[in-house]
Amino acid sequence: MYKISVIGTGYVGLTTGIGLANFGSNVLCLDIEKDKIDKLKKGIMPIYEPGMDSVLKENVKHNRLNFSTDIDEGIKWADIIFIAVGTPQGDDGRADLTSLLNAVETIARNIKGYKIIVTKSTVPIGTNEKIKEIISSVDTGAHEFDVVSNPEFLREGKAMYDFLHPDRVVIGTDSPRPVEAMRRIYRPLYLNEVPFVFTDYRTAELIKYTSNCFLAMKVAFINEISRLCDVIGADVQATAKALGMDGRIGRKFLHPGPGFGGSCFPKDTNALAAYARDIGMPLSLVETTIKTNYQQKLYMVDKIKKRLGNLSGKRLAVLGLAFKSETDDIRESSAIVIINELLNEGAQVAVYDPQAMDNAKALWGDKILYCKDEYDALSGAEAMVILTEWNQFRNLHLDQIRSLMTGSAFFDFRNIYKRSEVESHGLFYEGVGQ
Ligand SMILES: NC(=O)c1ccc[n+]([C@@H]2O[C@H](COP(=O)([O-])OP(=O)(O)OC[C@H]3O[C@@H](n4cnc5c(N)ncnc54)[C@H](O)[C@@H]3O)[C@@H](O)[C@H]2O)c1
Repeated sequence: MYKISVIGTGYVGLTTGIGLANFGSNVLCLDIEKDKIDKLKKGIMPIYEPGMDSVLKENVKHNRLNFSTDIDEGIKWADIIFIAVGTPQGDDGRADLTSLLNAVETIARNIKGYKIIVTKSTVPIGTNEKIKEIISSVDTGAHEFDVVSNPEFLREGKAMYDFLHPDRVVIGTDSPRPVEAMRRIYRPLYLNEVPFVFTDYRTAELIKYTSNCFLAMKVAFINEISRLCDVIGADVQATAKALGMDGRIGRKFLHPGPGFGGSCFPKDTNALAAYARDIGMPLSLVETTIKTNYQQKLYMVDKIKKRLGNLSGKRLAVLGLAFKSETDDIRESSAIVIINELLNEGAQVAVYDPQAMDNAKALWGDKILYCKDEYDALSGAEAMVILTEWNQFRNLHLDQIRSLMTGSAFFDFRNIYKRSEVESHGLFYEGVGQ
């Protein structure tokens, strides 16, 4: 049985740790955030991820999964060390590798014997080579190691399912030595005939970025078409559905909305675009995707202003803050740009999200009103704005909404209602591209 340490116990690190323990390895999840580790030691999930806590408890019970803040000891103990720290967007659009480089330096200081270092974090092209250089440059006596690029493709909200049922596992190496160990730790996937892509570092790094950029481009494309639909009077929903029926295109990621957000698409499109510019090979499709996605967010605000005019002093109820449903993550959520614009226009913003309220409070403080549920937010509002497609927002009591609100504007920026249904309750309906 392999001993695996995972450095960084966020969405990806925790999923990886729990998943690998579930596949039979002995796993130690490491993080510098003591609160997070304390919670996990008590069996409390620090993030909202459906279905994860039962797998967590099961593996802790069987003593295959432990948690610690002692990164040095964790590195010394392990045969295989996964790096799953954040690689957020820096001020210049490039990936900020500060946490990753810290983790690598800690590994370099503590490495003894043979270790496999696996990069799960999404990192720019050339980073795995750099990791190798850094570790080689620190001489701690006799040590050998291999570096493996193993990018992650999970979706937040479905993280556990995606870890257990990936479309593919990408393994980038420059040596055959770690390959057998990688096959062994992922053995249940291998036996289930999940495709494994064995390649070099640069290709593995690029596969991750191109996957996210392509999906982001698909979303940005249908959002642009939704703007066209608004002008020409065509229906983007029917267009997207028929478009997706073409097997060459596929129906996923063709849902019009308020622009993509989250911890991955925005930063990964920016990072690849910045990298490509740096090497003198700019990617105009990716650059345009970033630009048009920002325009989509502002276009939502324009829709609100067009209907309500001057927003000063008007109460607007925003339902949904997470960048998508089934997560508490608000990183780069469209709600951030849209709410900040509404605040700039002098609006009073009352919000409700089933999972993201704590994250919202940390971001906006007392600038917005936090409500106990959707109806509380709607009380006395001039307009309601749906920004996240939570299931519980799909079946709201429209009569109750009409009587609670002082105004009648219903902005459905996830297209989860039918215009005729909303209008039959005396509300004004505005969707995206309908
Ligand atoms: N979130 C996703 O959906 C997703 C999907 C695929 C890939 N990724 C990639 O995976 C990586 C991690 O993303 P995430 O969303 O899990 O990030 P996250 O912010 O949720 O978690 C990162 C964790 O790393 C910890 N950390 C930072 N520096 C550390 C250090 N030196 N030692 C130990 N712990 C440290 C932080 O405290 C935090 O808990 C990123 O590169 C991201 O692009 C994310």
